[in-house]
Amino acid sequence: MDSKLALPTTRSDDAHRDRTPRSPPPQRPPLSLLCIGCVSLITLAGFFNYLPTARFSYTYPSIPPHADRVLRECKALKETPGPPAEFFTRTQSDRFVPGTKPVWIRNATIWGGGSHGLGTLHGDVFIAGGIIKAVGHVPREMVDDYKYVDEVNAQNLWITPGIFDMHSHIGVDSIPNLRGAADTNSPKGIAQPWIRSLDALNTHDDSYKLSVAGGVTTSLILPGSAGAIGGQAFAIKLRDTAEGSASSKLLEPPYTLGGSHVDPSVRPRWRHMKHACGENPSRFYQGTRMDTAWAFRHAYNEARKIKEEQDAYCEKAEAGKWEGLASKIPENLQWEALVDVLRGRVKVNVHCYEGIDFDDIVRLSNEFQFPVAAYHHAHDAYLVPELLKKTWGGPPAVAIFSLHSRYKREAYRGSEYAPYILAKNGLRVIMKSDHPVTDSRYLPYQAAQAHYYGLPTELALASVTTTPAEAAGFGHRLGYVRKGYDADLVLWDSHPLALGATPAQVWIDGIAQLSAPFVSQKPRTFQDVPNTPNFEKEAAEAVKYDGLPPLKPKEVRDVVFTNVRTLWGKEGGSHVAVPLAGDANANAKSQAGTVVVKNGKIECAGSSQDCLAMAQAGDMDVIDLQGGSVAPGLISFGTPLGLAEITSEYSTNDGPVADPLEDKVPSIAGGDDAVIQACDGLQFGGRDTLLTFRAGVTAAVTPPTGGHISGLSTAFYLGAEHKLQAGAVIKDIAALHVAVGHLGLKEGPSISTQIATLRRLLLSERKSESGESENWFKEAAHGNIPLIVKVDKADHMATLLVLKKQVEGKTGKTLRLSFAGGLEAHLLAKEIGEAGVGVILNPVRSFPTTFDQLRIIPGPPLSEDTPISALLKHNVTVGLGVEDKSEAPGARFDIGWAALDGNGKISKEQAIALATTNLEKIFGIDTQGDFVAYHGGDVFDMESKAVAVMSARREQVALF
Ligand SMILES: *[C@@H]1O[C@H](CO)[C@@H](O)[C@H](O)[C@H]1NC(C)=O
Ligand SMILES: *[C@@H]1O[C@H](CO)[C@@H](O)[C@H](O)[C@H]1NC(C)=O
Repeated sequence: MDSKLALPTTRSDDAHRDRTPRSPPPQRPPLSLLCIGCVSLITLAGFFNYLPTARFSYTYPSIPPHADRVLRECKALKETPGPPAEFFTRTQSDRFVPGTKPVWIRNATIWGGGSHGLGTLHGDVFIAGGIIKAVGHVPREMVDDYKYVDEVNAQNLWITPGIFDMHSHIGVDSIPNLRGAADTNSPKGIAQPWIRSLDALNTHDDSYKLSVAGGVTTSLILPGSAGAIGGQAFAIKLRDTAEGSASSKLLEPPYTLGGSHVDPSVRPRWRHMKHACGENPSRFYQGTRMDTAWAFRHAYNEARKIKEEQDAYCEKAEAGKWEGLASKIPENLQWEALVDVLRGRVKVNVHCYEGIDFDDIVRLSNEFQFPVAAYHHAHDAYLVPELLKKTWGGPPAVAIFSLHSRYKREAYRGSEYAPYILAKNGLRVIMKSDHPVTDSRYLPYQAAQAHYYGLPTELALASVTTTPAEAAGFGHRLGYVRKGYDADLVLWDSHPLALGATPAQVWIDGIAQLSAPFVSQKPRTFQDVPNTPNFEKEAAEAVKYDGLPPLKPKEVRDVVFTNVRTLWGKEGGSHVAVPLAGDANANAKSQAGTVVVKNGKIECAGSSQDCLAMAQAGDMDVIDLQGGSVAPGLISFGTPLGLAEITSEYSTNDGPVADPLEDKVPSIAGGDDAVIQACDGLQFGGRDTLLTFRAGVTAAVTPPTGGHISGLSTAFYLGAEHKLQAGAVIKDIAALHVAVGHLGLKEGPSISTQIATLRRLLLSERKSESGESENWFKEAAHGNIPLIVKVDKADHMATLLVLKKQVEGKTGKTLRLSFAGGLEAHLLAKEIGEAGVGVILNPVRSFPTTFDQLRIIPGPPLSEDTPISALLKHNVTVGLGVEDKSEAPGARFDIGWAALDGNGKISKEQAIALATTNLEKIFGIDTQGDFVAYHGGDVFDMESKAVAVMSARREQVALF
């Protein structure tokens, strides 16, 4: 050991280089090192007067000139990151923008942060210098110290800390999606701790202003999950800066940013890194989980070797054994970040879904002894809480989605109860967006959904504020409304966990972000936290059945509902809410009545007196709805419900349909004339299908999964067991579906080619080549079947409106055209209305993912109009769509939110039509007779829970 350490400096460096073949050459060539050695000897000789003049002999000095620096650097290696002591006495933020006026926010309801609740306070918040100066009571003298102060009357609305998104790709996976800005992953290696998201951070991402409008003030920008070690992550504040650079967005950038040579006298700042395991690295690097695990171990071993060299070096130096010691601590620019992980100075964020992957990481963290800040996605985490706790250094936080699941195998067991179950097991829960996978603008809604499914109020609020801020190492300045903290605040138009909560103002570093916010007027009750239903039984079952609880409902023919406050009936083709005048019941929130269902059909609705005779006949289930409601079953459109189970697993799905515009369609299947029927591929009983059913959606319309020419959609009942059951298929052929637009980033047929094809197909009178099948385009041209065009760009829609006229001119019939997608439809609202064309908006809350979707109408607080209100103004038949089948259960909240955003201009009746009668009209289907019973509230409420579906068509009641 000693002899090795006594090796000459240059050799020592060589030895180090030998062991790390991929490291760059030493910073200084050996020659200059030798030279420095010479100079040192000479300098020292003079300085210490060390060399005896009488008898010269070569003695290496016991204390070399670099000793002081080296000792300071060695000491610094042991420093833990965090704010320096003087941080807590700061009077101004390092991010303060000179000229920003102080703001005195008066009369707010303040949620102060903290997972155990700092409590709620009524009062004022004073912000100046980019930080919070006072909370609650603001002394007049404090305000008087400043010449100009902006005063905001919060009118008792809620204020919370800014939203912290711990998993975002804003800027690296930029919007609109263009090939020139696809910077999420590096294809160059499975383990690259040296690459950095900051180096790809695009400041022109359209998402920044949208996410800020949702209250997001800080995001941790992670590289993608293609690699096991995807690189370093950086926290940014989302506001614009005067400099306009990516660097100026950074929050407490680590000092290592400018290289590994840092001032050893300053306390280090937290660094951040992305790791990933499971399907993504396997797929991207064409390996398996075993390869990924080795990639981790190999990388960590490289880092460990360097760390051990450093430690051995420092041990020597600290013991004063300078002889033979190089003048510099061994280091390596490529691996230094991973060495810092081993030193516990990096917040490691691990994308990891399944038990098997957590187990790998738990072993890895124990083998190399490094802590993990958070497991991300973590769809299985709620099934293995004790395993997670075995992670070296203590249990990581768990950063998850509220609903988004089943897009791949490792997300199959995802549960809406996971936040609740994890919290119950003492794990810290974070809700995250994975933006743009889900739009971070609506991250607070994920917290609201987690709350709906059982996560306690304080933890739900903290899951997007305090918990991520602390887990990411920023708990000293973010995540609380507290004196001395960053002035990142959100003023909400309602309780932040209420449905559709929207910022009325957002401050970042004390700067108001919304110049002219539009604030919807909401019912007073929306200022209170929703009183959510009890899902204890469901949560327990999720765990009991290892993530796959049985979802098949109990089926009966007759049932009596008591304490029903609202019954939705049909009047002139529309659903209207009718309060059920009945009995003054102490249990109900107001007067409530009784609904008797026989053979799946509502036979009596009124007071218990009115329906008594009928209710007593026979042995019937009696369900107390506790002031709930009976409302029409909703319809879902836009996802592959009924055709797909695990989206990325071919063997679980109907599969993709060949697109005659891009692929060769097998001639045996009909060649270019083939028009595929979704009904032929229908599969029942899928998990998303049943979860959606259990959330009050009784029917779905699904086209085949195709490209430009998808084929024929089918309308079906979500609660059926198979196609041959009575009422399972509502309409085997609902509509003909095509798509116009750019379907991906890969080059496809021109828009004009797509239109030419459509024109030819619609105007052609010929039978299909085989002569066997119908010419479905001719049927559409003659108005015998609706034609649904998936289209987003207004210009494409305008061309389609011209085509519609052309076709109608020839056939003399009405082309029953509707647009699906329709993100830019508001630009043509008048023309679309006049043409009698329907629009199925999808997604409901617009997000400009592609260039075809660029000109969205953002809705409050950025605009008064929403895509829905803009179209309804022109009498367009509007339906609501959904993109992700695991989010299809949210339909009733989507319509409730649509009504709220309408600010009084969209009635509840109009809102419910968006997911019922309007879709029926567009598709020419009839789901009449499907009703859903909600416990504890109305169809839109985040306080109610669907407990039964009645189907007159099926002569059945499904009980959950
Ligand atoms: C704040 O609320 C109090 C009590 O409701 C009221 O007296 C006072 O005028 C309000 N101040 C502002 C600035 O709105
Ligand atoms: C929409 O329909 C209503 C009721 O039929 C009518 O009064 C109104 O003028 C229509 N609006 C537009 C813009 O066509």
